[in-house]
Amino acid sequence: MNESFDYYVPVKLVFGAGRVKEIGTYAKPYGTKALVVTTGTLFEDNGYVKTVRDSLSQEGIPSEYYPDVTPNPLHTQIDTGAQIARKAKCDMVIGLGGGSAIDAAKGIAIVLGHNRPIWDFCAGGPAEITEKTYPIIAAATTAGTGSEGTQWSVITNPDTKEKPGIGNDHTFAKVAIVDPELMVSMPPDLTACTGFDVLAHAIEAYTSTISTPVTDLYCEKAIRLVGRYLRRAYRDGTDLEARTAIGYASTLSGFSIAVGVVTICHALGHAVGGVCNTTHGKTLAAITLPAMRFSMNSNPDKYQNIGMFLRGEYSNDGQDRLEDSVNEVQKLLRDLDLQVPLSKQGVSENDLEAIADGTLRYMDFNLSIDPAKAEKEDLLAILRDAF
Ligand SMILES: [Fe+2]
Repeated sequence: MNESFDYYVPVKLVFGAGRVKEIGTYAKPYGTKALVVTTGTLFEDNGYVKTVRDSLSQEGIPSEYYPDVTPNPLHTQIDTGAQIARKAKCDMVIGLGGGSAIDAAKGIAIVLGHNRPIWDFCAGGPAEITEKTYPIIAAATTAGTGSEGTQWSVITNPDTKEKPGIGNDHTFAKVAIVDPELMVSMPPDLTACTGFDVLAHAIEAYTSTISTPVTDLYCEKAIRLVGRYLRRAYRDGTDLEARTAIGYASTLSGFSIAVGVVTICHALGHAVGGVCNTTHGKTLAAITLPAMRFSMNSNPDKYQNIGMFLRGEYSNDGQDRLEDSVNEVQKLLRDLDLQVPLSKQGVSENDLEAIADGTLRYMDFNLSIDPAKAEKEDLLAILRDAF
């Protein structure tokens, strides 16, 4: 066990079905006017935006609404959102949605606090994120990203074809509302992709070289919950017990990657998304098996537990083999209809070189905390396997 470690996740977690209605009460200490950020107008149509804005109004907090964020939010969308917030004199930012909306809200809060474009803070840019960042509130509608519980914001630049993650102690949400009722609206494909992201976060934070005893507990629980409930949530989206379990797993995984961070699978996944604008969870699903095989011999004690956690077993009889863990993940992928190679996700063979270069260029920290040390040839081998 690592006997010397830091653990810092300063997020007020508000968890439970129906609790998004309380957002006004929880937001009140942090500002007088809110920008509500969503990806598109779906949540306007299904009433979630109205629920949030009504709750804010009841506490005397007016709000502005910014729906012009896409999945894999662009740096330009973040700068535009900040302009709108500044004009409307908003002093806090609420992300309502999955990772894209919450990450965009974090980005907008950074721009508002520092008055410079978001890309200045990304991929080795000249600016540093400070305490000037405006308050962020996250209301999660998917169970996967974990963004509500992390400092990370992932921002895409189509000009440079990069998709780095940024963040530090100043970019945690003040309040994270995780309301499983909001997750009932997710279609099966999105449930599978975001749910697999939960598992990827837990596996990577659990096996990273900066894992901690605290996050190990979270990761173990998250992996067990995914093994037990994700298939149920996928088959029947209205199963509130399964939605609640996966919502909880997502939150635990989020807190874990705030500290233990993510490793080689996400490092490659971000670079794939930067070059080819793919769906995050689906891309991870394609990469995860070869990535596990690459890393598992470098941390066998941890990797051999993963299959046992997924199966829901509680005692290690010493018979667990590393390949069993890979097989358990593979079975889950099959049951979630997530066995989609990169070649069927809009990635061409010619892109692999640029993806490997991008991984080394701006996801180097994540590579450095994987138990196995990857060179460019290793990255290309994993990508070819996933292709
Ligand atoms: Fe992720």
